[in-house]
Amino acid sequence: MMDHFVVEGGRPLSGTITCSGAKNAALPLMAASLLTDGVTVLNNIPDLQDVRTMAMVLRVIGADVRIEEGTLTIDCSHCNFWEAPYELVRKMRASFYVLGPLIARFGEAKVSLPGGCALGPRPVDLHLKAMKRLGCDIYIESGYVNVKAKSLKGTRINMDVSSVGATGNLMMAACAATGTTVINNSACEPEIIDLANMLNAMGADINGAGSKQVEINGPVDLKPVKWKVIPDRIEAGTFLLAAAVTRGKVTLKECRADLMYTVLDKINETGVNIQIDNDSVTIDARDVKPCATDVITEAYPGFPTDLQAPWTVFMSLAKGDSILTETIYPERFTHVPELIRLGAQFRKKLNSIYIEGVERFTGASVMCSDIRAAAALVIATLAAEGTSKVLRVYHLDRGYDRMEDKLSKLGAKIRRIRE
Ligand code: EPZ
Repeated sequence: MMDHFVVEGGRPLSGTITCSGAKNAALPLMAASLLTDGVTVLNNIPDLQDVRTMAMVLRVIGADVRIEEGTLTIDCSHCNFWEAPYELVRKMRASFYVLGPLIARFGEAKVSLPGGCALGPRPVDLHLKAMKRLGCDIYIESGYVNVKAKSLKGTRINMDVSSVGATGNLMMAACAATGTTVINNSACEPEIIDLANMLNAMGADINGAGSKQVEINGPVDLKPVKWKVIPDRIEAGTFLLAAAVTRGKVTLKECRADLMYTVLDKINETGVNIQIDNDSVTIDARDVKPCATDVITEAYPGFPTDLQAPWTVFMSLAKGDSILTETIYPERFTHVPELIRLGAQFRKKLNSIYIEGVERFTGASVMCSDIRAAAALVIATLAAEGTSKVLRVYHLDRGYDRMEDKLSKLGAKIRRIRE
């Protein structure tokens, strides 16, 4: 579906909304259900295309998956197939998360290589290197990764780059390995902690998740659990920046401020007020002209690359010039030429963009190319004077739970045109 949005911009957002569950936690948790032969129940599941894609991947493997109003019921008692097909993996790279669980469950897996991506190169070499270290034989044929493991043995694994996906995959596979697996330079993202916590509730023995060294003792027999997904810190950050660029005042409920201090501090640094109150965060950007502030994206707890595109919108409408440096995906700038259509001024040099603050954006047609670029374009058009069209919002639908409904609730004039 090639739906688009029609946005009438220039209206400050105002009001209260509730954050959804985290996409990047929900997807690995869904994959983890394959480690049991029972019924896993996941609550606080966001309504997203990526969740539906992962459900299809699990169904191919033989799981019975039901999605009902924020709850997923995944019955893995009849799983009998260890393949994840290209047709699904090419739509969503996170499908690759089934690799670890399939190896653990069947000692065998055939998972399509993801291929190209709008963010630039996104290899899976670290995943494969780690599985080899656990004792897997791996060969690539016809675009598929084929894995066979006679036995899995715990060992020390050094991640050359801290990778969220490779850390998650390895944690899941290592639950079936004999002895202790130590991951050095593991990813510290909160979504990895959520995965480790759920695995431990299932009966795993994982220590140190959230730090640079995770230890997994195995093998363990895992039982299905009922689990609530953590709130989405990237969705929360996107709405805070939407409020900031429209100079509005918005309260987010069910928001984990403790998982986003870097972002909240950066927003504060611009002069925009943030107030934290238990599980809610309020941003007040009324009557403020935010000051330009430099940002470097980094692995958690650094500034997240997934908020880089929305941040460029914020800085484009701030007072002064700033530099944004992208260290995770040096080519993740497809939103830049689209923002220029609205009036932004950028100069790009290597993996940095120099952002010149401008007085205003004016409405135009713009096209989305990935989830976060789409979010950036939506918030940019909310700030732009006049009417805009945001094309290809299926990218947004992959990762944001009914974003236009939440924005409408905050007073935005945004309409989906179905095609
Ligand atoms: C996760 O992707 C997120 N996806 C991404 O969210 C996010 O941008 C990214 O982490 C970084 O925070 C999910 O959680 C489903 P990585 P992942 O492996 O796990 C390099 C969104 O919009 N690398 O941590 O694939 C890689 O190129 C998105 O929601 C290798 O070199 O990211 C990158 O530079 C898109 N070899 C760095 O590591 C590998 O085998 C971090 O990537 C794997 C990664």
